[in-house]
Amino acid sequence: MIENLTLLEKAAMLSGKNIWESRAIPRHGVPSLFMSDGPHGVRKQLGSADHLGINASQKATCFPTAATVANSWDPALAEQIGEALGEEAASLEVDVLLGPGLNIKRSPLCGRNFEYFSEDPYLAGKMAAGYVRGIQSQGVAATPKHFAVNSQELRRMTTDSVLDERTLREIYLTAFEIVVREAEPRALMTSYNLVNGVYANENTFLLQKVLRDEWGFDGAVITDWGGGNDAVEGARAGSAIEMPSPGLDSVRQLVAAVQNGSLPEAELDARVTEVIELALAFRNPLDPVAPLDVAGHHRLAEHAAEQSIVLLKNDGGPSGGGLLPLAPGTRVAVIGDFAESPRYQGAGSSLVNPTRLTTTLDAIGATELELVDFARGFDRHGADDESLAAAAVLAAQSSDVVLLYLGLDEISESEGLDRSDMRMAPNQLALLGRLRAVNPNIVVVLSAGSAVEIPWLDDCAALVHGYLAGQAGAAALLNVITGAVNPSGKLAETYPIRHEDSPAFRYFPGTERTAEYREGPYVGYRYYDTANVPVRFPFGFGLSYTEFAYSDLTVTDTAVSFTVANTGPVDGAEIAQLYIGRTGPGVHRPAKELKGFVKVPLAAGEQRVVTIPLDDKAFRHFDIASDAWQVETAEYTVHVGASIADIRLTGTLAVQGTIAPITPAVPGPYDTASITDVSDADFAALLGREIPPAHWTPGPLGINDALCQMRDAKSPLAKLAYRILHRMLKKSEAAHKPDLNLLFLFNMPFRAIAKMTNGAVSLHMVEAILLIVNGHFVRGAGGLLRASLRNRRANAQTRKALQATA
Ligand code: BGC
Repeated sequence: MIENLTLLEKAAMLSGKNIWESRAIPRHGVPSLFMSDGPHGVRKQLGSADHLGINASQKATCFPTAATVANSWDPALAEQIGEALGEEAASLEVDVLLGPGLNIKRSPLCGRNFEYFSEDPYLAGKMAAGYVRGIQSQGVAATPKHFAVNSQELRRMTTDSVLDERTLREIYLTAFEIVVREAEPRALMTSYNLVNGVYANENTFLLQKVLRDEWGFDGAVITDWGGGNDAVEGARAGSAIEMPSPGLDSVRQLVAAVQNGSLPEAELDARVTEVIELALAFRNPLDPVAPLDVAGHHRLAEHAAEQSIVLLKNDGGPSGGGLLPLAPGTRVAVIGDFAESPRYQGAGSSLVNPTRLTTTLDAIGATELELVDFARGFDRHGADDESLAAAAVLAAQSSDVVLLYLGLDEISESEGLDRSDMRMAPNQLALLGRLRAVNPNIVVVLSAGSAVEIPWLDDCAALVHGYLAGQAGAAALLNVITGAVNPSGKLAETYPIRHEDSPAFRYFPGTERTAEYREGPYVGYRYYDTANVPVRFPFGFGLSYTEFAYSDLTVTDTAVSFTVANTGPVDGAEIAQLYIGRTGPGVHRPAKELKGFVKVPLAAGEQRVVTIPLDDKAFRHFDIASDAWQVETAEYTVHVGASIADIRLTGTLAVQGTIAPITPAVPGPYDTASITDVSDADFAALLGREIPPAHWTPGPLGINDALCQMRDAKSPLAKLAYRILHRMLKKSEAAHKPDLNLLFLFNMPFRAIAKMTNGAVSLHMVEAILLIVNGHFVRGAGGLLRASLRNRRANAQTRKALQATA
């Protein structure tokens, strides 16, 4: 097939023809690929298309988001959800689903944490692999994203993630390694950012050395939307499709590069082969598509939420053994805006138009609870409202138990925007205080896709965390509250006491050129546990209505076995976790790292022996000197527990490794996990090179500078454009509605003007625009006119040439 394609046709296949589709070559039977988000539901747009979740999409099941399902620690459940996503994608004639997202939660503040699984790469990788297997079982390609080191939203298209290779490998790439090796995704999406000075999409180290040579990836790499920088460099590094639709300018650049010898044709052919294989490998477009199983998938969404809800506190109750579960006939007041309008997903490209939406007020009728009263209680966006609060106090007074639905509002969790703190709105907490004064039996039901500070824990008797539980989440929460379902979810991220305690507090987000990962590998529990920093809720924590006992640990070279028993009164499921640490001295590493887990369903009184294999990741670390994974010959501690902070069984294992333990000459911050204030010298030593400049340099703006940098531009016109954009942005923030378009514009680099306008604007035109921005109005305006005419002529010619072969 490749041999019969012209150079122009081949080049044309390496970019999208519109916002969602790749280019077809009908004469050779290469169909176009339809791509849609996303991670927890299909967002197929038919009308006005956008990549930010702004315009409407077809109805689809909104499953709980990844942050939620991660709490199930159940890759089989992830696979089931993946199958349903794949089925829906197929029924909507989507070939490539743009998910799952598995970036590491470096900071609790990342605006997209709700879309990602965990702070731990092992858990994130295993869960993502489940989704990929499920999606692809339905003949739809999955696209794990965003590869790689994309842990902040601020200036996500222009920042350079600066980190040492060990941290890169062990923390930020391991999740992708697991998903690629274990689930063989047919596609993969690169991130917008640079990684150690090179755009992820042009990063030969990432795309060739690691992804293909080491992990054996043989699918197609796709850019994030507008994430292409240099089309030729992307193709050379191994990126196959530039999305959404950079126009024929990119196509001409590829043709020219092959013609002038700077891009070997074999390299172009390799990318084209990847696209053709992606287009042909899957669903036959002639196969009849099954209609969407609306009711079945709604039930699955409810089941997924039930398995993922985390019970964080359960005190009080008649015998002091816990207020929950509530007995039939309990007289409850339901209070809180979120009970009426649930927060069940986050904002941005992952936004799903749900087939149904259950609210607490709908679902409570199906339980045996007696609803005494409902009060909205507060304004979800934080405005004080005494009449709402007073009505809630009355409702609380007249009931036995208060179900208080608190949460983060929509602007708090959005693509394109990081949070500025971890606090909940003061008006919600003030209401909690007032309710508690009149009724101590308060169950807080929390809706938030990422960690929050919980200084108010003492004010509630019970705390049920639903995360962002999807379209059926309200019913699932009530099932947990009434005990119809025994909660079994455990946190896939740590809840620090204060944001200031979190390891990247001082470094996050990178605000100008770079994002410095100075904390190294001490992300999440790896830091809190190693540095002995107290937390509100540790990684892996979650309560049940029953109790589990652990016993009889056996450790062999290949596996860890132990017995888990349900010693309490009701059936339940326990998530047992395996952590490993090294006993003696050696290369710096966290005290314990997750290396395995298993979810064990157990009837009341039942016990079972479970075995967790010690896999290739159990003892390894990435050794910089030999540029390879190594295992230090040493004694390792094997910890089995109910959370990182609740270790029930401990054993040791002498491991014959591949190298002798590496003893650092001088103890530095990384040996003691004192990483909250790492000096330049220590960070440079970890990097093994000088720290690149973190700040923008004054002077003319270039194509890779962000539009928001027009604040300091030379041209008064550009400064005015900045002020208008900024004002509009502030207005939308004040209205608590994230304006994703504006956010995108504000943070995007100038080159994206060419990359996202389907050929209407060429890179030469962007260069002319920059002349204007940099104060050369006349030269720029003339250049813009000329470049625009040239672009129109060139587009017409290229289009004609492509049609001639069609
Ligand atoms: C997001 C991706 C998404 C793409 C298409 C981008 O803004 O970062 O995750 O798949 O848009 O909607």
